[in-house]
Amino acid sequence: MIKLHDLQFVPFIKEKRIVSAIDELADTLNHDLKDKNPVFIGVLNGAFMFFSEVLKRFNHDCEVSFVKLSSYDGTTSTNNVKELIGLETDLSGRTVVVIEDIVDTGNTIEALSKMLEAKHCAEVKIATLFFKSEVYQKQIHIDYFGIEIPNRFIVGYGLDYNEQGRNLTDVYQLKTSNMTNLVLFGPPGAGKGTQAEVLKQKYDLIHISTGDVFRYNIKNATELGVLAKSYIDKGQLVPDEVTINMLNAEVEKNAEANGFIFDGFPRTEAQADSLAELLASKGSEVSAMVALEVDDEVLVQRLLERGKTSGRPDDADEGVIRNRIKVYYDETAILKNYYQKQDKYFGVDGVGAIEEITGRLSDTIDNL
Ligand code: IMP
Ligand code: MG
Repeated sequence: MIKLHDLQFVPFIKEKRIVSAIDELADTLNHDLKDKNPVFIGVLNGAFMFFSEVLKRFNHDCEVSFVKLSSYDGTTSTNNVKELIGLETDLSGRTVVVIEDIVDTGNTIEALSKMLEAKHCAEVKIATLFFKSEVYQKQIHIDYFGIEIPNRFIVGYGLDYNEQGRNLTDVYQLKTSNMTNLVLFGPPGAGKGTQAEVLKQKYDLIHISTGDVFRYNIKNATELGVLAKSYIDKGQLVPDEVTINMLNAEVEKNAEANGFIFDGFPRTEAQADSLAELLASKGSEVSAMVALEVDDEVLVQRLLERGKTSGRPDDADEGVIRNRIKVYYDETAILKNYYQKQDKYFGVDGVGAIEEITGRLSDTIDNL
């Protein structure tokens, strides 16, 4: 997390992803504009970093020019686009490519397009690194964009908050909530339940176990519980939408919480996307996927030991145990990959005394 002026920002898009989006965009420009000797017009200040990255990758004849416009005031777009440095270059008959850092409402692009109309260009193309397509209100076609983002205020890679943050190579988004949201994973026998209980107390988090939420809703015949049961009774999987709505209800019930421990959810990439959306709607995000790591042989021994006293039949048979462990890794591989991509995956050594393991988990959580 970083602070610029009075606001806090959390990591959002890593440079690596931005660079590969620019690589792709530049490939397309190289292909489309090969023989056009285009004039690239950079919109200052925000586009300077993107502009130079695009130019470094463009392998054909071209020229560059700049215009300086301003429509933003703090963290909000205004309708008033000011031209601070005008376009001097003769553009008549030229292919012009406008290079923008971000297209938000489209006010800037619209104003610039109007200015360019008077210049008798052969054609005008728009290329932007970031595109807030949800809030874009104009008719002008955005020919090339690097990364589509939701309607959030971002900084970095040229973009600023009151002139700060332009030098950051990763992109950050405005933090609007202080919740710590953990997705907790661990193979059978890793001690996930025990640690969830401890972490819940220590960090004052709400533990949302999907299994418990299902049982609660079905037992109390809530609207969603009745709906879920109708699928279960038919032997069908409960649709993600029903599950996420149940979780949403839990989150809503605890709107003032310090955060949540999600246990048993998400299980698929689609569910992880839904969870991200759910938390984004509360101004927050998944802080981390924390996975307890325990060697298979240790797990097998632990579960066989537990089976001697618990009487759980699935803890007594080594073949069944090994299969449960395998299913866990098969299921979680996708999610590990998903959160790794966002730098939110934390594997924590799950072997040792309970307090030792809690200590390791806390080190991870305290550093988020
Ligand atoms: P628009 O005129 O609403 O499309 O906004 C375009 C201009 O507003 C961009 O060139 C940026 O200078 C600025 N802007 C829009 N969104 C953001 C943001 O999330 N962070 C920083 N600046 C932004
Ligand atoms: Mg700009």
